[in-house]
Amino acid sequence: MAKNEGEAVLRAENLKIHYKTKKSYVKAVDGIDLTLRKGETIGIVGESGCGKSTFGQGILKLLPQKTKYYGKLLVRDVDVTPLRENDMRKVRGKVVGMIFQDPMTSLNPITKVEKLFYETLEEHNPGISFNESREVTAQILQKVGIEPRRMREYPFQFSGGMRQRVMIALALVLNPDIIVADEPTTSLDVIVQAQILNLLDELRQSYNASIILITHDLGVVAEMADRIAVMYAGHIVEQNEKEKIYYEPKHPYTKLLLKSIPNTNPKDLELTFIPGSPPSLVNPPIGCRFASRCPYKMSICDEKEPPVVEIDGGMVKCWLYTQGSDNQ
Ligand SMILES: Nc1ncnc2c1ncn2[C@@H]1O[C@H](COP(=O)(O)OP(=O)(O)OP(=O)(O)O)[C@@H](O)[C@H]1O
Ligand SMILES: [Mg+2]
Repeated sequence: MAKNEGEAVLRAENLKIHYKTKKSYVKAVDGIDLTLRKGETIGIVGESGCGKSTFGQGILKLLPQKTKYYGKLLVRDVDVTPLRENDMRKVRGKVVGMIFQDPMTSLNPITKVEKLFYETLEEHNPGISFNESREVTAQILQKVGIEPRRMREYPFQFSGGMRQRVMIALALVLNPDIIVADEPTTSLDVIVQAQILNLLDELRQSYNASIILITHDLGVVAEMADRIAVMYAGHIVEQNEKEKIYYEPKHPYTKLLLKSIPNTNPKDLELTFIPGSPPSLVNPPIGCRFASRCPYKMSICDEKEPPVVEIDGGMVKCWLYTQGSDNQ
């Protein structure tokens, strides 16, 4: 069965996530549609501040209390947008595991590794003994390439790459269906980065889990993702299979993003920067949010929000691809 026909484990339907600030709302995620299927990895890419982490953390509702959610976010067919903290606790770890960028800030550095695992296991298996928890911990640490005896140590005693392995083990210990990995390798050197990505992919296969992989690094998603969703200013502007995004990008933003990947070919070292900066998410433009930076801008782009166009097995949110446009 092709991956795009498998069971949907996560579905965002016109999902909006707005942060409340003193005077206004920051529309960090502003109407996105996305389906993640069993066993699939979707890469979410885009410039800093476009709403990637808001979406990732929104899946587990790890955002400030006053944050507003609109639309639907179905996690295994349960809409989590109206759920309260108590119900979300049952989802966290058990249904969705989260891997953050910097394990030093998210793993409590003064709690021994064995206790971190015990706390997680105990939350979902009340009554589990410390010894039972240690057995489970030993098995999962072994899987991620860490000697089980090191569970007696504290996170600060591990190297960056090893801490990230501990974090991956912790995200997987309850065998979740979905793993959200937010910049999981950004702070690591390229060799450790490749090891961690391989490990994550192996674990995904052996657990038959699905992954949302958030990164600003198109190289990272090239390795692992089946599909890619490109975010810009709170919207998904293009979404398709990885190969289509890399070799036949449609949205002008995707095209420019691909050109801005550092190139190791010495003949072609020029790096293209995308001029300008993303718009305000408090009062976003009424038309296309990318218009002010777009080399293909037409007059309609400033006037009306582009529709989502289904094209080439994926989607693009751009006036260039609407019927009747001469600019395809
Ligand atoms: N707690 C918050 N309150 C208000 N605004 C916030 C809050 N957290 C994030 N934002 C804003 O929401 C927008 C999206 O932020 P987000 O962290 O989701 O971006 P990102 O795509 O993950 O960026 P990066 O690549 O830098 O991690 C940004 O404009 C950011 O300033
Ligand atoms: Mg982020």
